[in-house]
Amino acid sequence: MKYLTASLPLCLSLLLDLAVQSNAIKIHGVRTPRDESFSLDRRAAMSSSGDLRNDQDLKYFTNISLNDQPFPVLIDTGSSDLYIAGSIAGAGNTGKSAKVSYAIGGASGPVLTAKMDFEGFTIMDQAFILDTSGNNPKGEGLIGLGPNSESNVHQVLNNKNGDTPLDRIFRDNTSTPNFITIYLGRSDDPTDPFPGDLTIGSVVPGYGNITSQPKLPVLDVRAKGGQHWQTLLDANGIIGPDGKPINTTSHVSGGGKNQLNVIMDSGFSLPQVPKSIADAIYARVPGAEFKNVTGFGQTYTLPCDVELNITFKFHNVSYPVHPLDTTLDIGRKDSSGNSVCIGAFQPIMPGAESPTFDAIFGMGFLRNAYMLINFGDFVDGASSKTADPFLQLLPLTDDLTEAHSDFVNIRLMGNDNTGNFQLLPSSVLPPNNDSTTSDNNNNDSVGSKIKKYLPYIIAGSAVIGLLLIAAVIGCCMSSRKKRYRRLHDPAPHGLERVEPFERYRPARRY
Ligand SMILES: *[C@@H]1O[C@H](CO)[C@@H](O)[C@H](O)[C@H]1NC(C)=O
Ligand SMILES: *[C@@H]1O[C@H](CO)[C@@H](O)[C@H](O)[C@H]1NC(C)=O
Ligand SMILES: *[C@@H]1O[C@H](CO)[C@@H](O)[C@H](O)[C@H]1NC(C)=O
Ligand SMILES: *[C@@H]1O[C@H](CO)[C@@H](O)[C@H](O)[C@H]1NC(C)=O
Ligand SMILES: *[C@@H]1O[C@H](CO)[C@@H](O)[C@H](O)[C@H]1NC(C)=O
Ligand SMILES: *[C@@H]1O[C@H](CO)[C@@H](O)[C@H](O)[C@H]1NC(C)=O
Ligand SMILES: *[C@@H]1O[C@H](CO)[C@@H](O)[C@H](O)[C@H]1NC(C)=O
Ligand SMILES: *[C@@H]1O[C@H](CO)[C@@H](O)[C@H](O)[C@H]1NC(C)=O
Ligand SMILES: *[C@@H]1O[C@H](CO)[C@@H](O)[C@H](O)[C@H]1NC(C)=O
Repeated sequence: MKYLTASLPLCLSLLLDLAVQSNAIKIHGVRTPRDESFSLDRRAAMSSSGDLRNDQDLKYFTNISLNDQPFPVLIDTGSSDLYIAGSIAGAGNTGKSAKVSYAIGGASGPVLTAKMDFEGFTIMDQAFILDTSGNNPKGEGLIGLGPNSESNVHQVLNNKNGDTPLDRIFRDNTSTPNFITIYLGRSDDPTDPFPGDLTIGSVVPGYGNITSQPKLPVLDVRAKGGQHWQTLLDANGIIGPDGKPINTTSHVSGGGKNQLNVIMDSGFSLPQVPKSIADAIYARVPGAEFKNVTGFGQTYTLPCDVELNITFKFHNVSYPVHPLDTTLDIGRKDSSGNSVCIGAFQPIMPGAESPTFDAIFGMGFLRNAYMLINFGDFVDGASSKTADPFLQLLPLTDDLTEAHSDFVNIRLMGNDNTGNFQLLPSSVLPPNNDSTTSDNNNNDSVGSKIKKYLPYIIAGSAVIGLLLIAAVIGCCMSSRKKRYRRLHDPAPHGLERVEPFERYRPARRY
């Protein structure tokens, strides 16, 4: 037993490396033109490949280096600290240590400094956490792209030497505009294999139009520890699968009552929404069940062949969601062998709830909207009169016919039977049980201090990677007649019996 516990992590990490390599090969793609109406500008951009690695639509990594040693880091707009699990030769020590707790998992260890290369910028003596918690894969890290005011490293150093990498770049080089942009690709998109891109101070070539999208104000959240890239969805600004707006009620005081406060979080795989919203999207699907799914928590499950179209609205601009993002194929089957998907818009997990926002728009939403974050006066040392921060979102799922045919090809093997589908009557909806009372009058509440929201699924993906290898090997060894299995398909089954999530349970900071 002892032997097993000692060797399992090693085994997992070796296999994970393999999975990572095979993924990188598969997913590293070149964007190809999607339709004829693109401008020349946009078309030109299609030939460049981005600098993100998409790990099964669950994690997006970029490469950084510290003292010239390269590390993949998960990009996370929901937190504001850089950590690396590994060792960095020649790093300086600040004598301080810091800890970040996420909704799931965390990182802690000494605060060190090193020369950092990031997206073409070089920063001397960048402060970061050397994670010694043992919770996270060695040789990897996470870069927080949130506001400096939320950085724990900044808090413990308590001066500008503790600024986040982005704040260092914006302050060191005043000719760099204070914004970043994030484009997240979709791994099983048959028509658009671009893996994704992160840019600092410039936009992804061909997508310059994002700068003419409406500027969505970043809401100033007074509660300490609660500032995120947060904005307001339009009143009743979700169009459900029946084509009708879903009633929305915010529990956050201060904003519009019918406008949900949402935070944009590239580190959270499954978008988190109030339970009544998830009900409105999924509960009317024949066969849908609300249950506790191992590795995911409480969520809807439904047949994978059901196409659900939903759309979000910000400032009267519609952001349709690709039907491959509304439900997530996790490779499980029911007792009669039919594929079971989970509803990707999950009722908000208890560990992620906060009095200061209603919803977390994670990767499943962000794959449908290219995002620009202008930091405005949220940069350390800026005068409050500089400019207000804002977000801009450019719809990416603008060709609905193509999105539909992607779904038909991937989930229905090309056989379009979606015309036969009917939702159950709205009388089957469970009663709206969302909390409507605001408890925003407690600045020290636990919810407002949670920094970061990694989904259960991230923890689970190590196991998915392991099973993936098995699936690939099995596939290579078996008959050639078998249907080609995409490398990035999650493993078929078996997750039910594995309990690898113990140490990733929400650890809250008080
Ligand atoms: C990151 O670095 C690794 C190793 O140097 C390389 O194989 C990979 O292609 C890089 N990934 C990206 C997205 O640039
Ligand atoms: C400063 O920013 C400009 C514009 O983004 C960039 O071209 C230049 O390389 C940067 N200089 C340094 C030293 O990072
Ligand atoms: C970009 O914006 C301009 C002006 O608003 C518009 O004419 C053009 O069609 C847009 N291009 C794309 C690709 O959206
Ligand atoms: C939505 O709100 C309107 C007006 O507040 C109400 O008439 C309607 O019944 C609500 N619909 C649902 C499904 O709750
Ligand atoms: C869901 O199941 C897990 C174990 O599989 C358990 O630890 C957790 O408490 C359950 N959650 C709920 C809300 O029942
Ligand atoms: C959205 O459109 C409606 C109706 O045209 C208008 O009343 C409202 O002011 C618009 N909202 C914004 C934020 O532009
Ligand atoms: C989803 O939207 C597409 C494109 O508008 C449409 O062709 C398809 O029929 C819709 N599917 C459902 C189930 O509403
Ligand atoms: C509403 O939520 C409460 C507390 O979570 C629960 O006890 C109650 O059963 C729920 N009611 C309905 C109708 O779901
Ligand atoms: C919360 O904190 C902010 C600033 O720290 C303060 O202005 C506000 O009054 C506080 N709110 C409550 C309800 O205590």
